[in-house]
Amino acid sequence: MLWNKSLETGIPKIDEQHQELFRQADFLVDSSKADRVVATLNFLKDYVTKHFSDEETFHRSSHYPKAEEHKKLHQAFATGYKQKLEEFQKATNKAAAVLTINSMVVNWLKEHIMRHDKEFAVYYIQKKG
Ligand SMILES: [Fe+2]
Repeated sequence: MLWNKSLETGIPKIDEQHQELFRQADFLVDSSKADRVVATLNFLKDYVTKHFSDEETFHRSSHYPKAEEHKKLHQAFATGYKQKLEEFQKATNKAAAVLTINSMVVNWLKEHIMRHDKEFAVYYIQKKG
């Protein structure tokens, strides 16, 4: 799995969900699970939605000043993912399409966690005292 300690925010619920997202993204490129690709793509879609909503609940309840900005980043990802799913459905080379989705998800997650989720975590943990 591509998750590692450097991606830890220090908020256990968020870290557990991030790990699950990386695990699911891994399933996409695990050839032994190839027959489950469509199920995994759908699972990821739902899990991401739930994860974003949980993060946004954290933002609201702690009056995070960048909540709106952060939410927009989540929405942009959700739109991009939906687009990729449509491309996957039309693709003749499903294996290549799945690789594209995997790298899109993994790269976005890494970047987003390192910059935005960690920024929130610092705020949240400080505020909680
Ligand atoms: Fe986030």
